Amino acid sequence: MVNLSLVCLGLLSLWGVRGEVAPNFNHCKKFFFRETPVSGLNIALPTPVETKTKKLVNPKKCLSAYNATSPAYICQRYNNQYYFATLYDRGRRIPLYSAYKMDIKGKPGRKGSIVNYEPQLVHPELGHNQKEINECLTNIKNYNNRNDCKKSIEPYDATYKLAWSQAHNDDYRGSGYDRGHLNPAGHHGKGDASQATMTFTNVAPQNSTMNQVQWNKYEQKLKVLSKGCSEMYVVTGVVPGKEWLNNRVNVPSHYWNAFCCTDNNNKPLRSDNNNNPLRNDNNNKLLGSGGALCPNTAEGRVTEYKTVADLQKELRRLMSVKNNVQIFKGC
Ligand SMILES: *[C@@H]1O[C@H](CO)[C@@H](O)[C@H](O)[C@H]1NC(C)=O
Ligand SMILES: *[C@@H]1O[C@H](CO)[C@@H](O)[C@H](O)[C@H]1NC(C)=O
Repeated sequence: MVNLSLVCLGLLSLWGVRGEVAPNFNHCKKFFFRETPVSGLNIALPTPVETKTKKLVNPKKCLSAYNATSPAYICQRYNNQYYFATLYDRGRRIPLYSAYKMDIKGKPGRKGSIVNYEPQLVHPELGHNQKEINECLTNIKNYNNRNDCKKSIEPYDATYKLAWSQAHNDDYRGSGYDRGHLNPAGHHGKGDASQATMTFTNVAPQNSTMNQVQWNKYEQKLKVLSKGCSEMYVVTGVVPGKEWLNNRVNVPSHYWNAFCCTDNNNKPLRSDNNNNPLRNDNNNKLLGSGGALCPNTAEGRVTEYKTVADLQKELRRLMSVKNNVQIFKGC
């Protein structure tokens, strides 16, 4: 599966990146340590190809995500401001990872649930802000009117197009799975920063016990650890699994996390740096960077890694990735 998708990706990149949201994270590099995006984890499946293509008028203009490459590089924008970065697997309709900076001082200010969608995943010409459903549908309808895409043609219907391009509420409803955040609202202060995490491109099906108990505990611990850092760069991702919701949305087999703490010169904190005591509560060891991995099940245990390199090694094994994986450059 992975090898096949790598081949497909290779072919797609030969054909170019027509219609892509953006072929890179250039507008939101600041959410990665030393402005260097994660490399080696682009294991996305190709964008689903619409099968109901008989008698379609002007599919190039009217079909959702027409020939868009997967993954999509999303600079998560809310109310005209960037808040984090997401690598979105269009084929599996889940994020592979989200990268962000911890709000170290802010009090967690989560409000409400997952409500936002990405119009730009439907057509790159649409706005680049996340929007709630009604506004998204209006945007798509206006686009359809401008381009003479008749809504009587099923694949051109606004609701159909939105669902084609990304996961939506109905995929999760009744499944028993939580809409599990990668970038959690609780790592950001009140207001837009935490609201920006409430988008379907930042969540994947997560076992609700795992989400609410052990992974939640780990997320809170990370927030406490971050008090010893000047900045904490965080990347949280998933390992795609074998199960699907609704035959549309992949259920990850694992969630993973990596973090890198810096001093006020933007240098990584080192484990042996006594001036910057960042203590891991369990064993009272000094810790400047590391990570964690947890199976996506109720009884899955969180394994913590003392170095990002150890986590990367495990991720390469789990995802059968042959090339190098680099989450942080030089941390
Ligand atoms: C582009 O989209 C059309 C219609 O969905 C499809 O038949 C074709 O295979 C796609 N081409 C590529 C390169 O994905
Ligand atoms: C969560 O995990 C438990 C056991 O690991 C399982 O019994 C339960 O069905 C899972 N929840 C979902 C929604 O799959």
